Amino acid sequence: MTTARRSAVDRLLSQVLDEFSDASPPRVLDCGGGSGSRAVPLALRGADVTVIDISVDALATLTRRSVEAGVAERVHAVAADLEALGNLLGPASFDFVLLHGVLDVVDPAVALSVARDALRPGRPVSIVIANPVAAVIARVTAGDLDAALAEAGDDMENRSLGIGRLRALCDECGLRIETVHGLDVFAEFVPGSLGPEAVEALDRLDELTAARAPYRDIAARIHVLARREHGT
Ligand SMILES: C[S@@+](CC[C@H](N)C(=O)[O-])C[C@H]1O[C@@H](n2cnc3c(N)ncnc32)[C@H](O)[C@@H]1O
Repeated sequence: MTTARRSAVDRLLSQVLDEFSDASPPRVLDCGGGSGSRAVPLALRGADVTVIDISVDALATLTRRSVEAGVAERVHAVAADLEALGNLLGPASFDFVLLHGVLDVVDPAVALSVARDALRPGRPVSIVIANPVAAVIARVTAGDLDAALAEAGDDMENRSLGIGRLRALCDECGLRIETVHGLDVFAEFVPGSLGPEAVEALDRLDELTAARAPYRDIAARIHVLARREHGT
């Protein structure tokens, strides 16, 4: 059920790109951008995208896809460890940073600092993390109660990132959160064999509920849009 999730993120990214419609091509940094599932569509919309990833295989796929899409001159692959970047990137030189699916696999405080330093003041960062609450629900619905108990233990927020800790980390590093959306609120609960009409209805349902508690709080993934504060 990835159709619903992709369109929800696409909508959110489109809204951000509209901010730059009058400016010269926005410079985007996609941290842990892998094989370019976001970078290539952004380049097709006119952005100049730098992808940092530790996987040379993923970057090779990115390069091939950007050539095939005719946007190779606007997609730059950088093989590097986000946790050990040093001053590889110029300070405050990007209009938009993506941290999608990467804060769950690197030190989130370090990666958020990289994003903050790379952004021009006032510019946005788009963050997607897995929701540890949804992991507990998924274990219960699969009938694995022992795993659910282990997931839901007292130290859940320390083991997995979650929205509470992400809010605190953003606050500490000078990224002001503007919006929080749930991605795939219901998609995990329905059979994978649904037809196109049902997928469309599910997409609409996810869109309607994405910003509203308690639906947002149980979504499979969480999307956060934050901004580098001036003076940080
Ligand atoms: C779950 S994938 C997310 C890919 C993509 N951003 C998306 O949303 O579909 C995590 C990505 O982070 C990259 N990654 C993991 N550790 C990294 C590190 N220390 N520095 C840079 N990239 C890293 C992986 O190679 C992988 O491409």
